[in-house]
Amino acid sequence: MIGLEAHYSANDIEARILAAIRAAGLDPGQRLSPVELAALDHFHTGGFRASLVLKDLAKIRADDRVLDIGAGLAGPARMLAASPGCRVECIDLSPDYFVAALLPNRLTGLEDRIGVHVGSALAIPFPDYSFDVVWMQNVGMNIADKRKLYEEIHRVLKPGGRFAFQGDGRR
Ligand SMILES: C[S@@+](CC[C@H](N)C(=O)[O-])C[C@H]1O[C@@H](n2cnc3c(N)ncnc32)[C@H](O)[C@@H]1O
Repeated sequence: MIGLEAHYSANDIEARILAAIRAAGLDPGQRLSPVELAALDHFHTGGFRASLVLKDLAKIRADDRVLDIGAGLAGPARMLAASPGCRVECIDLSPDYFVAALLPNRLTGLEDRIGVHVGSALAIPFPDYSFDVVWMQNVGMNIADKRKLYEEIHRVLKPGGRFAFQGDGRR
């Protein structure tokens, strides 16, 4: 999407996010914390609590470089960028989610630690050995080609890197 169409689409998404934030009783004119937004932006089973558990299991540190695959609104990325304070790159297939992640990144003051990119898990737009941690919540279940998915995750992880995930769709 280009030009005016993209512009109005982005405005519409931002307006809807602002409305949801106000409806949650929050003031988007004030600096918001990822914890305050957590009921709105963790789109997976168990919500924010599951993200906290995954963060502990993966032992994520401030100096880790993290890739969040299928990041959605980037709620989990903001949680990690706030504490332990690491750099997180987000990819998502959906340009709408890409746009939607930018406003809450700004409202939480975390935009400098979070990169947002449109991209596919099956062709991750980063070089080999780029990340200490690959993070993926409730995305793998949408992806039939598991071999390609895990080849790509393996490719972008540094040797000894960690893969933190929930809900990849296997039974
Ligand atoms: C249930 S949402 C989870 C969002 C986020 N991980 C979270 O837990 O808050 C699934 C997300 O995966 C994205 N997605 C699905 N297939 C994908 C693919 N092949 N590559 C990248 N993103 C994908 C969707 O666009 C959507 O944003």
